[in-house]
Amino acid sequence: MPHIATAQAHANLAFVKYWGKADATLNLPLNNSISMNLSEATTITTVEFDDSLPADQVLLHNSTVQQDQTQLTLPFGEAPQPAGAGFAQRVVNQLDRIRAVASIRTRARVTTANSFPSGAGIASSASGMAALTVAAAAALGLNLDQRTLSILARRGSGSACRSIPAGFVEWHAGTNNDDSYASQIATPEHWPLIDLAVVVSREPKKVPSSEGHQLALGSPFSQARLNTLPERTGNIRRAIHERDFETFGRETEAEALAMHTIAMTSAHVADGSWRSGVYYWLPDTLELLAAVQEWRADGLEVYFTLDAGPTVHLLCLADQASAVIDAVRTLETERDGRIWEIMRNEPAGAARVIG
Ligand code: DP6
Repeated sequence: MPHIATAQAHANLAFVKYWGKADATLNLPLNNSISMNLSEATTITTVEFDDSLPADQVLLHNSTVQQDQTQLTLPFGEAPQPAGAGFAQRVVNQLDRIRAVASIRTRARVTTANSFPSGAGIASSASGMAALTVAAAAALGLNLDQRTLSILARRGSGSACRSIPAGFVEWHAGTNNDDSYASQIATPEHWPLIDLAVVVSREPKKVPSSEGHQLALGSPFSQARLNTLPERTGNIRRAIHERDFETFGRETEAEALAMHTIAMTSAHVADGSWRSGVYYWLPDTLELLAAVQEWRADGLEVYFTLDAGPTVHLLCLADQASAVIDAVRTLETERDGRIWEIMRNEPAGAARVIG
């Protein structure tokens, strides 16, 4: 029996953020979080366990996969390249967790490709770890349920647990390894919500999320956010169920600013110098956030959220998307030579075996 499988997973966008960990080894979060899988941001990963391999091999396709692509074989002209040491080690660590479940030691060849470029403000760790987990489990013939896959994916990267179920998802923070996992709130078809990701810069961020998580509890506002979150999370969950866009938008936008307030007030020392906090925004980011307020005053139904980077995610209903894109394009032309890339995401399906 060949010990090989390919899986696809979508990245996800959080409406209630995961920001700060209760346990950094297990990736237990401080709070429940809610997200949506993103249709245009996928990772495809093939895992092949091979007794003749002396060590795990981690290969990365630099060219991006097409959306409708279901196998990693074509149309890649170039051979995949060995992944950087940091990413490769995270993959090996994740393979070790799955090998432990299967009680084997066989090494694997992992080949992975993203449909979206890195630095687009969409974390590839969520889709990457979810696809890796599903592919490796399938390659070993492990018949794991969605909850177990979500728990395993979480160990690789916290937000990856939310890329296992389909559509709108909630990560139950839990208190130990076995009760911290994500489950579906609503199917992708339930609500035609659109995320227009406006990529204002491709520069890699200076402070990775993993560091931001560590700094979060140092902010004096962290506890204040945690106190308000049970109510806010309930409101967002209910708004998704009831397709109440106004409540959803207000609560989501306020939560994004709460997360960034914490980042901006997480004082720390880096490279020997004191910093008052972590600023993920660029001037273009702030310009867009201010514009959203104006657009809403003019009757356009649009809200924003942001992850740990300068990309602004504009949230609207499908029938408003072209008006929002027009508004973004108008703002873009207000400065010479400025070009923003826009990625249009719909709610997407679960991580799954393909090919
Ligand atoms: C800002 O899941 O990337 O995107 O568990 O350390 O891998 P690790 O962190 P990660 O953090 C994501 C942070 C966020 C918010 C979110 O997705 O909820």
